[in-house]
Amino acid sequence: MTRILINGSKGRMGQALLACAARIPAIEIVAGVDMGDDLAAPLSRADVTIDFTLHEVTAGVAELSASRGKALVIGTTGHSEAEKASIRAAAARIPIVWASNYSTGVNTLFWLTRKAAEILGPGFDLEVVEMHHRHKKDAPSGTATTLLEILADVRKVHLAEALRHGRQGITGARTETEIGIHALRGGDVVGDHTVMFAADGERVELTHKASSRDTFANGALRAAQWVVGRPPGIYDMQDVLGLK
Ligand SMILES: NC(=O)c1ccc[n+]([C@@H]2O[C@H](COP(=O)([O-])OP(=O)(O)OC[C@H]3O[C@@H](n4cnc5c(N)ncnc54)[C@H](O)[C@@H]3O)[C@@H](O)[C@H]2O)c1
Repeated sequence: MTRILINGSKGRMGQALLACAARIPAIEIVAGVDMGDDLAAPLSRADVTIDFTLHEVTAGVAELSASRGKALVIGTTGHSEAEKASIRAAAARIPIVWASNYSTGVNTLFWLTRKAAEILGPGFDLEVVEMHHRHKKDAPSGTATTLLEILADVRKVHLAEALRHGRQGITGARTETEIGIHALRGGDVVGDHTVMFAADGERVELTHKASSRDTFANGALRAAQWVVGRPPGIYDMQDVLGLK
């Protein structure tokens, strides 16, 4: 039995986590916590916290979890460099699964994106397009950022220098090294991501479309069951799924 605390329980993902957890006998939800609630007391009854909140919340949760020796699963995206550094510091003391996307399909997309970039090589221009619901607070999505990091890694370029956010005005011709990112927002879209490889005469497009938050929730619950008892460190969904 894994005892789980949900942080951000009133949110879209928090609600999906509570609903999905109720269908898994090996999981006990010790508490759902949201803005303004005390986290410390219910944490003492949990083995692991799942955090789907806001980027500015996660580092504090990681520090508290580290001070209590409790594992953590981070679903929240959009962290600043300083927030990422605090989370990494906490991971010296506890195991943390930290993934921009918990769906099995998207983790397959990550794997396929690396393979396609390696096979197709530098002759193909790289563009990423993502679309999410109108309420999403950060852009580009954490999943798109992971896709961009994979592409930059294969191409051996610095992402910050290669990245081209949208295009406007007299941009001039596209450079060979740039990687385009376009964030669309609207309606109730749960999460669409397309990676485009465009060359002279042909184009490859890899697309994933999520139609239910349950896919992220079930992945995060699986990660929570997996992470308890692991050595301290940062793990991702590829570790949980055994894809490494
Ligand atoms: N990794 C993934 O697979 C994945 C999938 C979907 C969403 N996300 C990310 O998860 C996060 C949440 O997404 P959402 O759509 O559920 O957002 P949401 O706005 O619906 O929910 C966030 C919840 O966090 C709560 N919250 C804010 N401050 C808090 C605090 N200090 N303590 C506790 N709770 C607090 C809010 O009140 C709200 O209920 C976003 O960063 C989103 O990008 C990640």
